[in-house]
Parts: sequence; C-alpha cells; structure tokens
Amino acid sequence: MIPPYRRISVTLYVGVRASTTVGELLAWAGKRLAHLPQPAREARRALRLATGGECPPREERLSAFTRGRFRRIVEARARGVPWPILEETTSFLDFEVLVPPGVFIPRPETEELAELAISLFAEAPPRPRALDIGTGTGILALALARARPDAEVWATDVSLRAVRAARRNAQRLGLKIHVCHSEGFCKLSGKFHLIVANPPYVAKDELPLLPKEVRGFDPRRALDGGKDGLECIRQILFEAPKFLEPEGVLILEVGPTQKEALLRMADSMGEWAETRVIPDLSGRPRFFLGRCLPSR
Ligand SMILES: C[S@@+](CC[C@H](N)C(=O)[O-])C[C@H]1O[C@@H](n2cnc3c(N)ncnc32)[C@H](O)[C@@H]1O
Repeated sequence: MIPPYRRISVTLYVGVRASTTVGELLAWAGKRLAHLPQPAREARRALRLATGGECPPREERLSAFTRGRFRRIVEARARGVPWPILEETTSFLDFEVLVPPGVFIPRPETEELAELAISLFAEAPPRPRALDIGTGTGILALALARARPDAEVWATDVSLRAVRAARRNAQRLGLKIHVCHSEGFCKLSGKFHLIVANPPYVAKDELPLLPKEVRGFDPRRALDGGKDGLECIRQILFEAPKFLEPEGVLILEVGPTQKEALLRMADSMGEWAETRVIPDLSGRPRFFLGRCLPSR
C-alpha cells in the first residue's frame, strides 16, 4: 500500500517511466491536463514540442531526455504557463514572431487592430510613414511593413527586452522597421500618416483581478494603465496630433469600459476631425479611431 502523500509522485513516475509508450504518455498527460478545455490536443502539442517534430506512433518509446522534457512541459501547462512562453513563439496574422521572456504575448484580439490599421494605411499616399507605440514583439509595426513595402515604419517601446525582440523579429522576417528604445514619443521626429498602439490600459486596482495566465506571465509595464487605466492612452491621445500629418489617423486598442471617457477627452481637444470607437468581433467597444483635421 502506497502512503497517500506519495501517491502523486508515484503516479507521475508511472506516467513517464522508460517502458512507457507514447500512447501511455499521452493518456497520462490527458489526465494531468483534464482541467483545460482540450486535454488531448494539449497533450499532443506538448509531445510535439518535446520531440521537436511530429507526434511519434503510439507504440513507440521515447528517450529519457524526451520523456523528461515532455513531463516538464505538461506540468508547466497544468500550472497555466501559456503556450507562447513554452514554445517561445506565436503566430500573428499570417506570420510568426519570437516571444522572449519578459515581453508581452501578442493576443488574438490585436489581430483585429492590425487589420483595421492595415486597411487605413492602404489609403495613405505613396511612401507613407507609420508609428507603433509600445511595440512589444513588434507585431503591429511588422504587419504594417509587410502590408506596405514602400512605407517607413517606426516602433518604440520603454522595455529594452521588447526593443530587442522587435528588432530580432524584423530581421527574421526580412523586414525593415526602425525600432527605438523610448518612452512614448520621445526621440521621434517628423510626421506620420498612421499611429497605432495597443497601450497598457488596465487600472492599477484591477491588476490583481486579471487571470493568473496574464498576471503571472506578462510584464507589469505592458498592462498597468495607472490609476484609471488611461494614463498611457491619455499621453498618446494628447501628443499624437503633433506627430500626425493633416488627416492622419490614430488607432488604439482600449479597454471595453473606456469608450465614454476616451471620446470625452478626445472631443475636448478640438484637434480631431473625427473620433469614434469601433467594436470588436464580439461587439465590445475596443478600438479608438481619431482622424486629424485637414489643416491645422
Ligand atoms: C499591451 S503591450 C502591447 C505590445 C504589442 N503592441 C502587442 O500588441 O502585442 C504594451 C507595450 O507598451 C510598452 N509601454 C508601456 N508604456 C510605454 C510608454 N510610455 N512608452 C512606450 N512603450 C510603453 C510596454 O513595454 C509593452 O511592450
């Protein structure tokens, strides 16, 4: 009889011992990940990551090294570590980026922001200029540079890790973007046809309420929008007109409860010919759009 306090470790051991087949490993992992929505799929993905290729046949036996790797990946997923952290990469639109530790993990909803930004940038004249503030892994700047090869695209971030990640991702994708380590608009000059940002917009008091997968793995600076969640947004909104061409566009991803405050702020400035908040695919107000006056 195994004492109760040893049962868990014995189960783990049985799950990954030398004679265990791939099929048995997958069954063990499926049970270990049963609290996640798609345990079998999770288990196969963990196996592909552990082997560095396709899932081996179910009757095959793996090396001790690969079994150990597989077990560590499954345990990390069981603790809620997001896939992009484990795989160190994620896909965005139709390309892949590296996601080094300490850099914000791109989210699927930001693809909607990228699509809006790309369609607005398509209207810009030849050789347009775009700016992505708080670029993280570089996704928005890279999406714009891919869509408009004639454009000059700039990206900034306060995080040095993010700056390095964005530069590396640009190099891997063979794209030219100018990435600078800068707070907001500091170190930038000239005018842009489009400014895009997914800034930190969570109110400080609400940070502890975020799901563990977000709180535990994304850098605080990427989430913390100050007392009311609008600190960074306010800074961008008020400074953007100085950096936009006449009729240039600012587009921001914002929190679903920030619509009224944001429109009130923007309309009080008298700098925008048009302001509106566009809903995301689930109908929540998500993207702020401001178009500058034709001449100022
Ligand atoms: C929510 S993340 C978005 C990252 C990326 N754009 C994306 O959508 O995946 C916000 C990013 O803004 C950066 N950031 C925060 N405050 C900033 C500031 N004042 N100036 C420039 N970047 C800032 C953070 O370091 C982080 O990389």
